[in-house]
Amino acid sequence: MMATYVGVILIAITLLSVYILGILADSFYSTEKVKLFAKANIISGLITDTDNITDETRESIGKTLYGSNIRCIVTGKDLRALFDSNNDSDIVGKIVIREAINKCMAKGEETYVIGEGINEVKMLSVAVPLMTGTRVLGAVYLAESISGADTAVNDIRRNLIIFAIITSILVAMLSLVLSLMTTAPIDNFIAVSKEISKGNFSVRAKEKGASELIEMATALNYMSQELEDFEQNRKKFVSDVSHELKTPLATIKLLCDSIVTTDNPDTDMVKEFLGDLSNEVDRLTRLVERLLTLTKMDANQKVKNATPVDFTVMLKAIIRNLTPNAQSKNIMLYDDFGDITLEPVMLDYDKIWEAIYNVTDNAIKYTPEGGFVRMGLGIKNQMVVVTVEDNGQGIPDSEKERIFDRFYRLDDSRARETGGTGLGLAIAKEAVQLHGGEISVKDSENGGSIFTITIPYIRETAV
Ligand SMILES: Nc1ncnc2c1ncn2[C@@H]1O[C@H](COP(=O)(O)OP(=O)(O)OP(=O)(O)O)[C@@H](O)[C@H]1O
Ligand SMILES: [Mg+2]
Repeated sequence: MMATYVGVILIAITLLSVYILGILADSFYSTEKVKLFAKANIISGLITDTDNITDETRESIGKTLYGSNIRCIVTGKDLRALFDSNNDSDIVGKIVIREAINKCMAKGEETYVIGEGINEVKMLSVAVPLMTGTRVLGAVYLAESISGADTAVNDIRRNLIIFAIITSILVAMLSLVLSLMTTAPIDNFIAVSKEISKGNFSVRAKEKGASELIEMATALNYMSQELEDFEQNRKKFVSDVSHELKTPLATIKLLCDSIVTTDNPDTDMVKEFLGDLSNEVDRLTRLVERLLTLTKMDANQKVKNATPVDFTVMLKAIIRNLTPNAQSKNIMLYDDFGDITLEPVMLDYDKIWEAIYNVTDNAIKYTPEGGFVRMGLGIKNQMVVVTVEDNGQGIPDSEKERIFDRFYRLDDSRARETGGTGLGLAIAKEAVQLHGGEISVKDSENGGSIFTITIPYIRETAV
């Protein structure tokens, strides 16, 4: 890139210099030419008789040339010199051979020649014919050194070369700085990307430089942050799962060891231990089932198997299913939506069933004997709103968000004893969010909690 910049600048300056120098030389030569022709014409006007150049004429010619370094030779028609302003030469009376004179005499018109004179001095010479009518009687020849102009042009050329070199150096330095400014962040991005590909998600790109580079760095950093969060979640999930599996497995091991190490155990004890073992296996099965449900939900980012679902029918079915659990705790489980009718809503029946079932199951589980669980249904802002209210133990404000996290239980050991996996609400949240809805909890007026599930009211007709 740097070489390109310097190259372009050098070519531009060279072309410009050649052009400027050409114009300068031309203008100088043409000014001098005009001056010489003017003088030559004056002199030709002074000469009235080529056979006899009077002293008076000589004097006038001298005056015309006064103060200049112009040499003047007047020739007759036979090319013999009649007059020479250079008193030291002896060419008067001799044939003068000058290109300008020859051309002028041959054509009978003004001529100029730029060429090298003695000692390689550049000379400008002009010749104007001396005419009588159409007859050429002779010529007035003026010659002048123009090496001064050449020196000036050379000076300018030298200055232009210095200027070109300085400019190129400056451009080289500038493009070096510019390229460092652009390549340094890109090098940084490459290094960061390599680290990310190696699995080090804590690296971040430097967010500085041009706006595009900042945008790129921000996007890269966003990606690494997401990957870091994802990786942390994954690690946490694996460690949580291991932890959750360890407890029932340890209990099973303990129960088995007890039976194996007891000599002649009586049948009742074996039966009791086997009963406990069966419970632990049930818990493990439940945990594995819930984990599977959760993993399936993760993999599906879109609602598949959407079918038209009648909410009132679904909610009443859930109540029917959980009534035995409620009755065993003497809890009143009922709906308060009467005969409200909703158009069928397009959704994945199993997933939403599971979400509402989990929330209602919790309400029964975490409400003391003799309490109540009420289910509500309505439409608000084009959303189906399902509420599950209980008058149970309630949930402290600080825990209201966290209960939706995987494996989170308020009273960990007690909840575990009741068989709670801590996955029910996490599954419910995933299911609801998958449908573009939300799940939240707030305190109910009677000390318990109200869980609210909202699902977009997408009717069968709209699909
Ligand atoms: N209605 C409620 N009243 C009080 N606490 C609740 C209520 N619902 C949930 N919780 C608390 O939130 C925790 C998380 O509930 P979640 O349904 O995710 O797990 P779980 O019920 O313990 O396990 P699982 O659903 O597998 O049986 C529960 O352990 C409980 O402490
Ligand atoms: Mg639950």
